[in-house]
Amino acid sequence: MGKHEISYVRVERDLYPTPRWVTEALLAHINLNRLMIWEPAAGKGDIVKVLRDSGARVVTSDIADYGFFLDALIDFTSGQVPPAPFTAIVTNPPFGHRNTLAETFIVAGLKHLTHGASLLALLLPADFDSANGRRRFFGECPAFTAKIQLTRRAVWFPRTDGVRAAPKENHAWYVWEPSRLRVKRPNPEAPPRPEGGLVLKKSTPPRHRSARDILGSAARSGEPGTT
Ligand SMILES: C[S@@+](CC[C@H](N)C(=O)[O-])C[C@H]1O[C@@H](n2cnc3c(N)ncnc32)[C@H](O)[C@@H]1O
Repeated sequence: MGKHEISYVRVERDLYPTPRWVTEALLAHINLNRLMIWEPAAGKGDIVKVLRDSGARVVTSDIADYGFFLDALIDFTSGQVPPAPFTAIVTNPPFGHRNTLAETFIVAGLKHLTHGASLLALLLPADFDSANGRRRFFGECPAFTAKIQLTRRAVWFPRTDGVRAAPKENHAWYVWEPSRLRVKRPNPEAPPRPEGGLVLKKSTPPRHRSARDILGSAARSGEPGTT
């Protein structure tokens, strides 16, 4: 089953520990070694442990305590910062009802990029960037840098009944960095474009030109050898 599939009871505060290989997929593409990383929804520390094993230093917080050591209890959406400095933010955020909490995590994370953080990496559904209402976080956001698509599906609920898990959801790491090349700042608070309100400019396919067309226009332009 996947985090969003509806055939199960949702876990309180979306506590779905991240399998080790999912964090390793991020580390295969981005060198976080020696950075000071904030894991702001640390849960039981599954991402934290992999980051630390890779050589990163990690400051940890969550809105709730699950027995894993936390540096602070913080609601990430409040704008509060942890007690130690950090340069990057990495987490698998709670998605919340209709993904609204995941969007609030992006907004909060992008604010930290405008205040000095150098990287934000969030694990989200693979189609998260395809909604028109979220263009401000992706195509229209100068800070949006990369999408690292997972090539396997994560099992969020290991089965205990002996049946092989067959998750249906794809996920990706989405990465933002402050844009150095463009003046425009990420504006996470810009209102979303109304759904369905975007008019795509239609491109007219070039009209097929027959040999007679071509010869005809050449003749009209007076080119030699065409009369
Ligand atoms: C999908 S789990 C991820 C846990 C951990 N990051 C991991 O990957 O194993 C989401 C976590 O977000 C935490 N959470 C939910 N709402 C939060 C909030 N507003 N601020 C900080 N953490 C929150 C939950 O308590 C839970 O630990």
